[in-house]
Amino acid sequence: MLKGKKIVLGVTGSIAAYKAAMLVRLLVKEGAEVQVVMTPAAKEFITPLTLSTLSGRPVMSEFFNSCSGDWHSHVEMGLWADAMIVAPATASTLGKMASGIADNLLVTTYLSMKAPVFIAPAMDLDMFAHPATQNSIKVLKGYGNHIIEPASGELASHLTGKGRMEEPENIVKALKDFFLAGRDLAGKRILITAGPTYEKIDPVRFIGNYSSGKMGFAIAGECASRGAEVVLVAGPVSLPAPHPSIKRIDVESALEMYSAAMEEFPSCDAAVLSAAVADYRPAVQANSKIKRVSNGMTIELEANPDIAASLGKEKRCGQVLAGFALETDHGEENARLKLDKKNLDFIVLNSLEDSGAGFACDTNKVTVIDREGKSEYPLKSKRDVAKDVVSHLSRLLLMLALLVLPASASAEGEELNATVNVNASKVQGSNTEVFTMLQDALQEFVNNRKWTANTYEENERIMCTFNFVVNSYSNDGSFDCSLMVQATRPVFGSSYNSMLFKYEDKSIKFTYQPHDRLDFVEDNLDNNLTAVVAFYVYTIIGMDFDSMGELGGSEFLNKALTIANNSQNLGDAGWRAGSSSNNRYTIIDDYMNGALEPVRRLMYRYHRLGLDTMFKNADGGRKAITECMDLLKKAYEDRPMAYFTKLFTEYKVDEIVNVYSKCTPEEKKKVVNILSEINPSLSSEWDKITRNNN
Ligand code: PMT
Repeated sequence: MLKGKKIVLGVTGSIAAYKAAMLVRLLVKEGAEVQVVMTPAAKEFITPLTLSTLSGRPVMSEFFNSCSGDWHSHVEMGLWADAMIVAPATASTLGKMASGIADNLLVTTYLSMKAPVFIAPAMDLDMFAHPATQNSIKVLKGYGNHIIEPASGELASHLTGKGRMEEPENIVKALKDFFLAGRDLAGKRILITAGPTYEKIDPVRFIGNYSSGKMGFAIAGECASRGAEVVLVAGPVSLPAPHPSIKRIDVESALEMYSAAMEEFPSCDAAVLSAAVADYRPAVQANSKIKRVSNGMTIELEANPDIAASLGKEKRCGQVLAGFALETDHGEENARLKLDKKNLDFIVLNSLEDSGAGFACDTNKVTVIDREGKSEYPLKSKRDVAKDVVSHLSRLLLMLALLVLPASASAEGEELNATVNVNASKVQGSNTEVFTMLQDALQEFVNNRKWTANTYEENERIMCTFNFVVNSYSNDGSFDCSLMVQATRPVFGSSYNSMLFKYEDKSIKFTYQPHDRLDFVEDNLDNNLTAVVAFYVYTIIGMDFDSMGELGGSEFLNKALTIANNSQNLGDAGWRAGSSSNNRYTIIDDYMNGALEPVRRLMYRYHRLGLDTMFKNADGGRKAITECMDLLKKAYEDRPMAYFTKLFTEYKVDEIVNVYSKCTPEEKKKVVNILSEINPSLSSEWDKITRNNN
């Protein structure tokens, strides 16, 4: 576990310094490279020769080598090390480390250290118990250092009590445990917002709140100690950075926090928004102190941007966005509303109704809520709450990583498993070779072009068919075809595929000559055939991602929307805005521009929370589907003619009837009412649900 790890071992002037020899031996035996740094006082207790012999490296103690004049760079050691251990750590060194008194090489090395630091105190029991020492330890813990508590036993003073340095074997074990566990966020970049924002009224007054930043700083520290690269955007707080590796951006107002968060988020894998951001700021900020007036005064406020909601809109597939909800009443209900409104993946509810929770205190009591359920935790220190929250985040990142594999993991073009047919039976008598060549060219284009930076596991590729029927063809290569596109998604844990998209495009006009190479360049639509096919491919991929994570397919659906927008000048009816309630342009515009947002959310809840769950928990999955049927109703009320409501009330009829082959009378009533209202022509199908005997 420690093989190849670079360890700086700081030794200070304590009687326990003799144990440093054993510690070096054990570390070297584990395969670590050890660089010893001693304080001048430590040399009174153990010779540098012993430690340099055991470590195989010259011991460093002074700022430069008095013989050669070589500079001993504490900065380089700070960058070189994977970990630093200070063992034994005297009360004096603890105090210097806590207050930044850099008067020897060991403390300067500590202050430059980028790696985690482990401190094993050693001293007499009264020295250890003294508030000054305890305060140093508290400060050092607060900086994110790992304190290896001293053991109780007989001390050098012959007194018995707590203060004996932990045995070298246990120090090595603590280090090994650290490297073994808790590096689950290595390689991830995480944005944290923390603390309050101050909204200036005049040069001496502001609107603010009681947030101390403790919760957010604990989360930032936890993420960093689990290996993440952390960007901490901090409002005005008086806390030190909780970990030396953290990039800290100090801001004052909500607008400044918004700019910093928007700039950093695109390069992050996740964000946890724990800041208490002011929703409003004074519309005018006075340049000089406002004077007292006898009749009171009114301050006009204007809205600040909602940082969480803005990041929610920008969120890419694979990114995780978490928020906090500070509530005073109806906690869970309000938190769930925020989860949806801001497009978060989970939200951490803390309520001012719970004593010891919320602002400023060192403890918190939280409930972590996501779309699959909730986990309630008891009152804990904010440091331990941070562990729970970060574990939730880590699990979600892992799950997404499994769902969305990086492109480099496999060959190109593996998103789709498409079958393309070109049926020319209506234009018999023509040269049939051109149709076969068109079919092969399309098959190659859809399956082998690289559509996304992601790819799916073999069993998760999107099964789809593109069935062209040639309505007319002339020898100059002009075609008029209809196209039926269908796509399905596999249901987890089963061999069943659920309908994701089914749409008939009545007329596509294009030209194709044998041996034409089918190509598609985004933003340069010179070929209607490839524009149409690319449009459907991005729609299908977007729908698939929408079914995996709520509103998760925006990146690809926006590409389809861009193709539809850019095709307005092609003059083809299939693209024209406003020409039909149900053409290529309208279906994507409805879906992406708000009117059908309930259906987008339904895509996720119905498939991921419903069907995917049903195969291991039939009642739970069906319950999730029943709950999300209200979204279908809402979408229908807002846009009765829209294509995507049809997906559920026409094309998924058999599936829905099957889902409700067993259900409660309440579920039956609710679902049948909604479906009959939306599509009364299928009453005989909905009756099947009514007639079932459960
Ligand atoms: O800092 P401490 O003293 O340790 O206290 C911790 C805390 C109580 C501040 C923290 O645990 C907490 O609850 N933070 C969120 C407080 C809050 O503003 O909640 P909210 O329900 O108003 O906001 C919901 C979410 O939207 C939050 O993630 C918030 O960061 C975000 N938001 C809110 C408004 C806004 N304009 N932009 C936002 O990003």
